[in-house]
Amino acid sequence: MEWKWNTIIEPFKIKTVEPLGITTREERAKALEQAHYNLFNIKAEKVLVDLLTDSGTGAMSAAQWGGVMNGDESYAGARSYYNFEREIKDLTGFEEVIPVHQGRAAEKILFGVVAGKGKCIISNSHFDTTRANVEFTGAEAMDFPVKEALNFDKPAPFKGNADVAAMEKFIKEKGAKNIPLCVMTVTNNSLGGQPVSMENLKAVRALCDKYGIPMFLDCARFAENAYFIKLREKGYAQCPVREIAEQMFELADGAWMSSKKDALVNIGGFLAMNNKEWSAKARQMLILTEGFNTYGGLAGRDLEAIAIGLREVLDENYLQYRIRSTAYLGEGLLRHGVPIINPPGGHGVYVNAKKFLPHIKPQNFPAQSLACALYLEGGIRGVEIGTLMFGRRDAKGVFQAAPMELVRLAIPRRVYTQSHIDYVIEVFGWLAKRAKQIKGLDVVEAPAILPHFTAKLKPAK
Ligand code: F0G
Repeated sequence: MEWKWNTIIEPFKIKTVEPLGITTREERAKALEQAHYNLFNIKAEKVLVDLLTDSGTGAMSAAQWGGVMNGDESYAGARSYYNFEREIKDLTGFEEVIPVHQGRAAEKILFGVVAGKGKCIISNSHFDTTRANVEFTGAEAMDFPVKEALNFDKPAPFKGNADVAAMEKFIKEKGAKNIPLCVMTVTNNSLGGQPVSMENLKAVRALCDKYGIPMFLDCARFAENAYFIKLREKGYAQCPVREIAEQMFELADGAWMSSKKDALVNIGGFLAMNNKEWSAKARQMLILTEGFNTYGGLAGRDLEAIAIGLREVLDENYLQYRIRSTAYLGEGLLRHGVPIINPPGGHGVYVNAKKFLPHIKPQNFPAQSLACALYLEGGIRGVEIGTLMFGRRDAKGVFQAAPMELVRLAIPRRVYTQSHIDYVIEVFGWLAKRAKQIKGLDVVEAPAILPHFTAKLKPAK
């Protein structure tokens, strides 16, 4: 629909509501202490606005809930599977459609088939579970983001792009035969939820063709990426987003999706490709670890909801609201002088804590300290992407500074309204005036693998 007004409204009305966790500052101070200053340990009922992740946290539509009731729970050959398969084939064009319970299950299966010791997977940027699943096979995961992705302050339209020249240089050094796959993550979650242009996808495709390397999409947020192409890339303004998405898939040899994002559901995923040899091996692993070919770790009702969600997400009124509402949060923070990855991404705003809290040393976890302050003052939960998540440790176990200190404010789909976001902006405005008073944290204990989930911290002396 043509929309001539400045106010972009939520393009839905609300049929079911859930109360928010309203707490006092005192209760939150206690909750933080009990959680050892790790927000993964906070009970969700004690969170007011939960921006921990946009994954599996969205609201389903009335049509999806209707689909849930229609779900066919047959073990084999369920009608819901065929609806799911048809929808994915229509959208992606891939012949082999393998359901999985979430994105990382697809990664475990795919890299089990194609990766292994001595191999290397190249990407614009691997998401952390993707990297972990590549490395678990003994292979290496190499990221080739464009340079502008690392300049957080300076806006650029497609900061999710891959640096094609750097990729080619690496392919020549490593040898194409050691690189079984190139992965383009759309949008690029690790570096700010930034989009990849069609031009860049085409250039990476051409590079992969030159060296005989298959290219897959990690397409958790494909619809948001396609909408950014429509908004920002020359020649696509008049093109329906669905066609843009189809063109993105056409450039790839396969894809996997965490459907917990752009399929607008709370659980689910798929792996899809044309390569019959790989898919046959993948299906063996599927049956071993997930379930039979026609359900793959999901209930029939989940498959039904995904099929409907994949169509709904490409509604341009929805996407206009989605991208605009994320930008609205980013603009509000910038107005208060809060440094962010600019422009805001599709699914969230990433606050640059290194710049916001320059008085906190990396060893005292500036991004984690900011995330805790945000919870303490406003009951808002974000997630640290910094030294706690990515800092390597020296021989004595001391964290080394990660290259970035970010707090991601990921926005669940169709869950919060503009007043919730105005509230988040207001809390940030209050914190911005008192940034110097925010204190760092010391680590008490942290495991070697994925420390951010279970680390215990305490206020620094
Ligand atoms: N790929 C990307 C780009 C992701 O963002 C995620 C998950 C996955 C793969 C793994 O999918 O969670 O369904 O197993 N991202 C979530 C997040 C966890 O918070 O960004 P999953």
